[in-house]
Amino acid sequence: MNFYSQELETITKRNRFRTRRLFGSNLIDLASNDYLSISENPIPFERTVAKLREIGQFSPKASMLVNGYHEIHYNFERLLSEIHQFESAIVVGSGFLANFGLIEALIRSGDELFLDSEYHASGMVATRLLKKNQVHIFPHNSPEELEKLLRNSKAKRRIVAIEGIYSMSGDIANRDIFDVVDRYGAILIVDEAHSFGVVGDNLLGVFDYFNIKPQPNHIKMGTLGKAVGSYGAYILASNEIVSFLENRAKPVIYSTALSLFDTLLAHFSISYILENRESFRKKIDERKELFSRYCNLQKEGLIYPIEIGDNRRVIEIRDNLEKEEFIVGAIRPPTVEKALLRVIPRVGVSLEDLEKFLSLLLRFRNS
Ligand SMILES: Cc1ncc(COP(=O)(O)O)c(C=O)c1O
Repeated sequence: MNFYSQELETITKRNRFRTRRLFGSNLIDLASNDYLSISENPIPFERTVAKLREIGQFSPKASMLVNGYHEIHYNFERLLSEIHQFESAIVVGSGFLANFGLIEALIRSGDELFLDSEYHASGMVATRLLKKNQVHIFPHNSPEELEKLLRNSKAKRRIVAIEGIYSMSGDIANRDIFDVVDRYGAILIVDEAHSFGVVGDNLLGVFDYFNIKPQPNHIKMGTLGKAVGSYGAYILASNEIVSFLENRAKPVIYSTALSLFDTLLAHFSISYILENRESFRKKIDERKELFSRYCNLQKEGLIYPIEIGDNRRVIEIRDNLEKEEFIVGAIRPPTVEKALLRVIPRVGVSLEDLEKFLSLLLRFRNS
């Protein structure tokens, strides 16, 4: 039976065909979001295993709203709200579910949503649950365009959603957006998937980087599968908003609680990151300096987009780099407007290897 062969053929013709692959463990990973190389660090893992063994319960068994809420979740949420200085925190199964849940739950009838045009697919897809006239997409990182839209809005509640560091362009959020949101009494969601662990004096993300004290109109979303080296997500907000999410966010109510292993692993990983933040910050800065020197590219975080433009060529350069044992992401439309290589100089990759990689990258790109 050929149910989708025509669509697959079209995708292939456009050089947009994707497939999941297994990579050899000998390759040097410059593609994943494991910014701090915590995924290879045995310390949080060993602590997690020892603690779970002591507790003797290994699975959450149910939704948090039934009896799946465990002390492991409670303690992790307390750690999160304390370090980020938010009133309350709630764990969620993944970043995708967190964005989906936030947008589906918070935008009620009569409310309007204002999304940055580069906002992650998990937020974009949730807008399909809203009425068309409730959703406004504003030009990427433009406080001026956002302000125009907010000025014209007659909505009961206005909710703005941005990312701390954008997942594909690597841009940091425009600080002025925080001020515009405040001026219009709107709610601000900040997705810190790619900024936690990477920017700020304490590596806590853009609130930390911009020195912004969380207010009752702020919501911060963080993921655990990137710099934290685990899996899952969390939402930080006021007591009132978290309570509302417990009552309305479907991924909180109708999904099994976050795995106990992943929650505990994230707890120990975050404690480890904070204990070692000086050394991590130094390693991050060294890697940023190399990109600045070789590619004249300055980014606040550790996402380096290398624009290539052509779908076929981006795959060709990626494959050539792989022959030299380096893995990078080759990102094509529709994920991005123009094909690019997405390079993540993780702190676990040595500076020597990174210099070798950058020389190769420049050679392949210019040939
Ligand atoms: C900006 C952003 N938000 C949310 C997500 C989804 O998070 P998760 O992988 O935990 O589902 C991702 C990536 O996967 C992301 O890049």
